[in-house]
Amino acid sequence: MSKAATANAPQSYTLVDNTTGKKIELPVLDGTQGPQVLDIRKLYNDTGAFTFDPGFTSTASCESAITYIDGDQGILQHRGYNIEDLAVQSDFMEVSYLLLNGELPSVEQKKTFVNAITRHTMVHEQIQFLFRGFRRDAHPMAVLCGVVGALSAFYHDSLDIQDPQQRMISAHRLIAKIPTIAAMAYKYSIGQPFVYPKNDLKYAENFLHMCFAVPCEEYAVNPVTARALDRIFILHADHEQNASTSTVRLAGSSGANPFACIAAGIASLWGPAHGGANEAVIKMLQEIGDKKRIPEFIKRAKDKNDGFRLMGFGHRVYKNYDPRATVMRQTCHEVLNELGIKDEPLLDMAMELERIALEDDYFVERKLYPNVDFYSGIILRAMGFPTALFTVLFALARTVCWFAQWKEMIEDPNQRIGRPRQLYVGAKPRAYTPLHKR
Ligand code: ACO
Repeated sequence: MSKAATANAPQSYTLVDNTTGKKIELPVLDGTQGPQVLDIRKLYNDTGAFTFDPGFTSTASCESAITYIDGDQGILQHRGYNIEDLAVQSDFMEVSYLLLNGELPSVEQKKTFVNAITRHTMVHEQIQFLFRGFRRDAHPMAVLCGVVGALSAFYHDSLDIQDPQQRMISAHRLIAKIPTIAAMAYKYSIGQPFVYPKNDLKYAENFLHMCFAVPCEEYAVNPVTARALDRIFILHADHEQNASTSTVRLAGSSGANPFACIAAGIASLWGPAHGGANEAVIKMLQEIGDKKRIPEFIKRAKDKNDGFRLMGFGHRVYKNYDPRATVMRQTCHEVLNELGIKDEPLLDMAMELERIALEDDYFVERKLYPNVDFYSGIILRAMGFPTALFTVLFALARTVCWFAQWKEMIEDPNQRIGRPRQLYVGAKPRAYTPLHKR
C-alpha cells in the first residue's frame, strides 16, 4: 500500500492487487483530533476481500463527538474538556449533562436537569419483589444486570427509540434509578431493608445514604466521602468505544430498547479485563499480602506460562499513565487522610508495586502503566464498600456514557445494524454421515 496524497490535497491510500495490478483508492477521513482513518466501507464491494482485525485494534466502528483519547500522550477529553479539569472543577450531574447534550449546562439548564433526575430516583415498587427472587449471595453485578434489563418490563411508556422525548425520559430514568438499584443490590446482599432515595440529597450523597443508612438510626453523609465518590463517578463516566460501550452500541444497532442495551453493557463491564479489574486489584493486593512478596508477583506477571497479570496495569489505548489514575491516586490519599486512615497496607503495597513495575524493563518496554482501576478499589474500600460492589459502582457511573453513546448512534442518519464479518477457518463442505455409520 502506498500513500498517494499530498499534504494539501484530499488524502487517500492506494491498494494495489499484486496479481492483476488493479488499483483501489481508499479515502482518508479526518477527525477533529487524532490519527487519520482509512475509509474501507467499499472494500468488499471493490475487492471481494474483508479486513481481519480481531480485538478491533485498528478499526473505528463509528463516528463519535463525545470523547477523545490520545493514549500516547495520556489525554482524555469529554466534549473537548480535559478529564483533570472536569474531575476537579465540575460535578457528576454537570458531566452527565455534558456527555448527553454536548455542552456544559447553564445554571438554569443544570437546575432543570438535576430536578428531572431527582424526580426519577424511585423504582417501581414491584421491583423489590424481583430482587427477592435472587439468592442473597448472588454477585451484585448479576443482580444489576438482571434488574436493569428488567426495567424495560416496567417502563413501557419510554421504549419507542424513534421518539426523542421518550429517549430523554429513558435517559433520565436510567441515570436516576441505577444508584437506587445498585444500593438495593447491596442492601439485599447483607440482609438489610432497602432504603428509599432522599431527594434533598445530591446524587453521590443519595447513593451513600441508600447504601449505608438503616431505618433505626440517623445517618449523616460525610461530605468529603460524597465529593470523592462524585469524582470517582466523573472519572468512570465515559471512555469512548471500550468493550462495554461497543456492546451497548452493537446491541442497540438492532433497534433494541436502551434498558436492554445497557444491561448488555453491564454484562460486558463485569469481566476482569474491563470493569471487573477494580475488584481484581484488591484481591491481587490481598493475595500478595506483604511488600516483600511483590518481586515474586512481578516475576509471575512476566512469565508467559503463568496466567497471572498485574491487575490495574496496562490498557489497550493508553501507552502512558492513564490520566484518570493520576487523579484517582491523589483522591485516594485525600480520602484516607480525611477518614483518618493512617496506615493502609493495601495502599502502601499498591504504591510499592507501582514503583517496582515502572522501573522494570518488561513493563517499560510494553508501556504498561497503572490504569483507572489501580487505586479506585482502595478508596471504595476505605469508604466502606465491599469488594463485590466495586464494579457495580463503575457501572453506575458508566450508565450515562452508555446512554449518550447509544443516543448518538440512534440519532446518526448513517446508522446501520452492526454486523462484523469473519475469517472462516472451519471444515470445508463435506457429506453428512448418518449416525449409524459414524
Ligand atoms: N500484566 C502483565 N503483562 C501485561 C499486562 C499486565 N497487566 N497487560 C498487558 N501485558 C502484556 C501482555 O502479556 C503482552 O505482552 P507480549 O507483548 O509479550 O505478549 C503486552 O503486555 C500487550 O498486552 P495485550 O494483552 O496484547 O494488551 P491488550 O490491549 O489486549 O489488553 C488489557 C489490555 C486487557 C487492559 C491488559 O493490559 C490487561 O489484562 N490488564 C489487566 C486487567 C486490567 O487492569 N483491566 C482494566 C483495564 S481499564 C478498564 O477497563 C477500565
